Amino acid sequence: MKALRSLLFVPGNRQDMLQKAQALRPDALIPDMEDSVTAAEKNKARETVAFMLAPLNQAGHTLIPRINSLGTGLLEKDLEAVIGPNIYGVSVGKFDSARDAQQVISIVEVLERKAGLESGRIKLIPWIETAKAIVNAYEICSASPRIIGVAFGAEDFTADMEIPRSEESAEIVYPRSVIGTAAKAADVMALDTPYPNFRDAEGLKRDSFVARQYGFKGRFAIHPTQIETINSIFSPAPQEVEYAKRVVQAFEEAEALGRGATSLDGKLIDVPIVKRAQKLLALAESIDQRKATWS
Ligand code: COA
Ligand code: MG
Repeated sequence: MKALRSLLFVPGNRQDMLQKAQALRPDALIPDMEDSVTAAEKNKARETVAFMLAPLNQAGHTLIPRINSLGTGLLEKDLEAVIGPNIYGVSVGKFDSARDAQQVISIVEVLERKAGLESGRIKLIPWIETAKAIVNAYEICSASPRIIGVAFGAEDFTADMEIPRSEESAEIVYPRSVIGTAAKAADVMALDTPYPNFRDAEGLKRDSFVARQYGFKGRFAIHPTQIETINSIFSPAPQEVEYAKRVVQAFEEAEALGRGATSLDGKLIDVPIVKRAQKLLALAESIDQRKATWS
């Protein structure tokens, strides 16, 4: 699976920002046609994003445009404008159920075929950001193999709940727990809400560390300065990678002697511990591959 630690939003109507983004290095770039674009600018955003996809792809970006949600009357046109060989997938706001996913996918399938792409090539990242979606989180996460991750939108969620948003984030403990667990159960990546105070690097660090503890594998950025902080929080530390290698090696040696458990530095090494180490090594490898594509 591709590492998606940092996913940078760029407002789709801002050609200047999309151009600047060519030189930035997030794990994914999210040209946005949804809530960072006003109703009057929707057509301009669609055209600008469609125009910029080829150069951004050529610059090495993993592109996942965010399109307008079902019921806006814009979704079909948006999908038509972006589906093609330059993108990795699409992200769609405000899913409530697996039915929403199926509706979007039936349109994606047709456009994918029209574009001559292999079936299943265009991935999908639904936004879980309503009370209903939280209740249906697992069915959304597992609605289709196209879904590789789900995004949590805290601003829309708290608006739907009619509750205020706070710096302590106590109001999102429950949805974060649900999404982290549901995504894991469906074997997709949980991707966390943007941290809005983009000048507060310490706050971003603290809050991202909390998100990681709920099982999130990455989060959205709204400003270029957030990319590095987010990448570092969602990357395994070098000493974690070293230790994981030693765990796997110790276990393989024990296995060769017919033993299902062994010890390393005075600690038990058994199957769940080895599985965790193997996952960490797979993530580290995917991050290394990403770095290699930039250099
Ligand atoms: N992508 C690419 N470039 C960006 C950027 C982004 N998301 N955010 C800022 N920049 C650029 C600015 O254009 C500016 O470039 P310049 O120095 O050449 O003029 C530089 O980075 C510094 O920006 P800064 O002045 O610190 O911020 P700003 O006031 O221009 O913009 C925001 C602040 C929040 C309006 C802007 O970051 C933004 O629009 N972010 C995305 C919001 C979004 O998409 N939200 C939807 C999801 S919730
Ligand atoms: Mg939203």
